Amino acid sequence: MNFDKPINRRGTNCAKWDKMEALYGVCNETGIAMWVADMDFHPPACIREALQAYTDHGVYGYYGNDKAYRDAICWWQENRHGWTIDPSWIFSTHGLVNGTAMCIDAFTSPGDGVVMFTPIYHAFFRVLNASRRSIIQCPLQNENNRFELDFDLYDSLMTGKEKALVFCSPHNPSGRVWTREELRGVADFAERHNLILISDEIHQDIVYPGQKHIPFAIADDSISDRLVIMNAPTKTFNIAGTHTGHVIIPNPELRARFENRMFALGISPNSFGIIMTQAGYSTEGAEWVDAMVGYVAENRRLFEGAIDALPGITSFPLEATYLSWVDFSGTGMSHNEICDRVHKQAGLATNHGGTFGLGGDGHMRFNLATQRYNITSAIDRLNAAFNDLQ
Ligand SMILES: Cc1ncc(COP(=O)(O)O)c(C=O)c1O
Repeated sequence: MNFDKPINRRGTNCAKWDKMEALYGVCNETGIAMWVADMDFHPPACIREALQAYTDHGVYGYYGNDKAYRDAICWWQENRHGWTIDPSWIFSTHGLVNGTAMCIDAFTSPGDGVVMFTPIYHAFFRVLNASRRSIIQCPLQNENNRFELDFDLYDSLMTGKEKALVFCSPHNPSGRVWTREELRGVADFAERHNLILISDEIHQDIVYPGQKHIPFAIADDSISDRLVIMNAPTKTFNIAGTHTGHVIIPNPELRARFENRMFALGISPNSFGIIMTQAGYSTEGAEWVDAMVGYVAENRRLFEGAIDALPGITSFPLEATYLSWVDFSGTGMSHNEICDRVHKQAGLATNHGGTFGLGGDGHMRFNLATQRYNITSAIDRLNAAFNDLQ
């Protein structure tokens, strides 16, 4: 497992390296891609070998028995996260943006309110706006670069029309791991306002030493009747192109509603995603994840140290995810000036904070899951672009 190994992704039609120019005005040849959440590493050998065996066979017809796939998901949740699930609770979707859209479609109607604690993963806004749900943004409170929940404020923002809460755990974009008490607070809030609680836990496996992700279902079992958990192997093993995720629903009535929408829209999984998921959720896959997290943890240490040394710029200490949330507001610079320095002068393609909703302005999100030489080069470029602050 050599995560330093250079892998040239330019010119491969990958979004991350080949769309920097179009999206951020960063030169595709010389820029460094630090935006969309995929990694620049090969997935574990067990996944590549399983895929190779399938492609070598050469016939790619309909997939039949998905028992081993469901069992692999159950094994992973039990062994890595201490959560026992029944294989019949699992639905396979085309990734978790699709999973979110399916939940919204199954459990709410146009015009209903959907609550989110913001800033939050930007694609949720796209899904909710396009499906004509009304978004109630409940701003997270920034306490010394650590987001906290303020339920008194959120209670006061409710109108009675809210039907669901989309929650992100661990949190994208700030990399927070929510504590058991915080999760219980969220569960109580959902209970008080009669909300279906959709917990997106796609980042559950990328958690740094000293932190522990708690699946919502075991943080508070009294909530299981209104709880939907979404998970996927795609961030964990860097296989986002498979667009395969799973939605886990303990409550039979919610399950029936969800299944009906899956049938109505004709959604069934693709065999490539099933095979790769099954291969990754294994002992070998687990060893790879531990090594990968160790590698990215050092990237995080270097990056956060360098950012925090720049006057007026601070990073949110990452507890999970490889996505660093950086606050430029202390520089007093406008959005355009921050973009000019980060994109044009430093040549770094990063996500704009404002796309993550209320509280995101003045921030950028940096993807650290890349070879170390990209991180050290990004640090040098940022030091040069913000040299006048020193
Ligand atoms: C919280 C969260 N949910 C979902 C996704 C995307 O999931 P998918 O690629 O399975 O649609 C991402 C990708 O960054 C994410 O951060």
